[in-house]
Amino acid sequence: MNEVKQEKVVVRGLEDVAAAETRISYVDGVNGQLFYQGYNIHDIAEKASYEEVVFLLWNARFPTKDELSTFRSKLVAGMRIPSQVVEMIKLTPPNSHPMSILRTAVSMLSIYDPDTEDIGISGNLRKAIRLVAQIPTIIADLHRVRKRQPLLSPDPNFGIAANFLYMLRGTPPDELEQKVIDLIMVLHADHGFNASTFTARVIASTLSDMHSALVGGIGALKGPLHGGANQKVMKMLREIDNVDMVQAYIEGMLENKKRIMGFGHRVYRVEDPRARHLRKYSELLSERIGKRHLFEISHRIEKIVKNAKDIYPNVDFYSATVQNALGIPEDYYCTVFAAARSSGWIAHIMEQYGDNRLIRPTSKYIGEMGRPFISIENRTI
Ligand SMILES: CC(C)(COP(=O)(O)OP(=O)(O)OC[C@H]1O[C@@H](n2cnc3c(N)ncnc32)[C@H](O)[C@@H]1OP(=O)(O)O)[C@@H](O)C(=O)NCCC(=O)NCCS
Repeated sequence: MNEVKQEKVVVRGLEDVAAAETRISYVDGVNGQLFYQGYNIHDIAEKASYEEVVFLLWNARFPTKDELSTFRSKLVAGMRIPSQVVEMIKLTPPNSHPMSILRTAVSMLSIYDPDTEDIGISGNLRKAIRLVAQIPTIIADLHRVRKRQPLLSPDPNFGIAANFLYMLRGTPPDELEQKVIDLIMVLHADHGFNASTFTARVIASTLSDMHSALVGGIGALKGPLHGGANQKVMKMLREIDNVDMVQAYIEGMLENKKRIMGFGHRVYRVEDPRARHLRKYSELLSERIGKRHLFEISHRIEKIVKNAKDIYPNVDFYSATVQNALGIPEDYYCTVFAAARSSGWIAHIMEQYGDNRLIRPTSKYIGEMGRPFISIENRTI
């Protein structure tokens, strides 16, 4: 049998391969820093609202007061979703994963969006606002449909993040909750060329539409090695349930070569800068709702994993306890990540359209060549 001789170098997982240039965000894995359009995340987190950050990601500058007010009103007004999408949500089996419903609903939104096929700048901006606004509504509506509770309309006094929490739970978030849900959205908004962003850019590079690219991004984010890790973190915390059990549980996992969810990162070799902010609110909120043990367990896990493997928490680790304290159901954690990251995906999709080259890598073929065809009558295994 012939073999193909190829001099191609395969970089498994595309580790350290730069697939494009970007101005949107920069992940400095050596120094544990994250920049949005050149601004250090530590200077933005807890200071800029989610709407300010979305504006920044899309326009490369922060908005003025007037611009922000208009932008925020447009976003909140865009939160309504077509009734057909609500009907579809009602038809879904109650045990299907919320990320699957979200993926399906975003795909369905494209059918009702008047600008779906317009990938020009203004068409994209109109869709961008609608999508970032509609995704939180899909998630909130799904939860309320499943709980047989009436669906709520956004409150114009709240921004996107607080409205999401209000429409999901039915109770308006207090000041601290508003601050924390906004912070979660800010911290998850963008993160370089992660798997879901890359997926979205590959789809955009074929000049397909924005909804298609977002559907791909949601599909990639759903996996436990990416955005699905936060739900698994909460499952682990529930299983451990007691600080005294942490050592044995984690050692057992490591001995069996199992991955500790919420730890490790392809790019960061030191602490994920987003974890610092989430750790602080994990402690504050867990204490506030009388579940301090969840923070204590998390903190103990962090120490043990650091000592044993020199691996640090990523964004998903403390986001689990923060979301738990905000009353977000466990199987919805990844959808919150998706809602926030939709703004980053869109920034990247628009950047891709702006200077497009079809993303089409190659592969190193290691199969056989020239195999003789045998007709079905003469074929045996
Ligand atoms: C995110 C992740 C996929 C990055 O992995 P990666 O860059 O491919 O890193 P590698 O798989 O090469 O791992 C390097 C080493 O660290 C270990 N490691 C990485 N993450 C680990 C984790 N969460 N728990 C235990 N060990 C881990 C690997 O086992 C490997 O150890 P070894 O060299 O002794 O075999 C990985 O850290 C992971 O699976 N984390 C858990 C899932 C998660 O939290 N995902 C959210 C990411 S934001």
